[in-house]
Amino acid sequence: MTIRVNGIDVPPPQDARMSLLDLLRNQLHLTATKVGCNQGACGACTVLIDGQRALSCLTLAVQADGRSVTTLEGINGENPHPLQSAFLEHDGFQCGYCTPGQICAAVAMLAEAEAGLPSYITPDLASQRITLSREEIRERMSGNLCRCGAHNGIIDAILAVAGQAAA
Ligand code: FES
Ligand code: FES
Repeated sequence: MTIRVNGIDVPPPQDARMSLLDLLRNQLHLTATKVGCNQGACGACTVLIDGQRALSCLTLAVQADGRSVTTLEGINGENPHPLQSAFLEHDGFQCGYCTPGQICAAVAMLAEAEAGLPSYITPDLASQRITLSREEIRERMSGNLCRCGAHNGIIDAILAVAGQAAA
């Protein structure tokens, strides 16, 4: 079994029933990924698997066999990711607990929009060019809850980065 996390092959889970979230936090001590509801409802545990967002609490670690997992620790390079800077600038957090999941989700969400994938509210399903309006971003990020109510700042931050990407 080969699970790659942030570019490094890691030891397999000690128990075949272990979730990816528990592998990351408890076995690998990568604690940026947070435990919220542990049942797929809040998005705090969002990571990227082969570049797509995934809820690590609902994913068995063994399901990541042969795949590449990225957590916030892997998104964070020598310099902050543009989304991290934008979250700071636009007050996209208060306690910060949901923030790693928000940023992982936003990274994948921007790639989904760039690839022309529609959301539930995209007006023209045939269009290859998605305009990321405030409403589009709100819908696309609706799986990531913020108990501090920083959603307006989160949307502002993502809008700012989406605007830079479109420019
Ligand atoms: Fe996974 Fe809430 S902890 S969705
Ligand atoms: Fe506190 Fe989102 S910043 S839960």
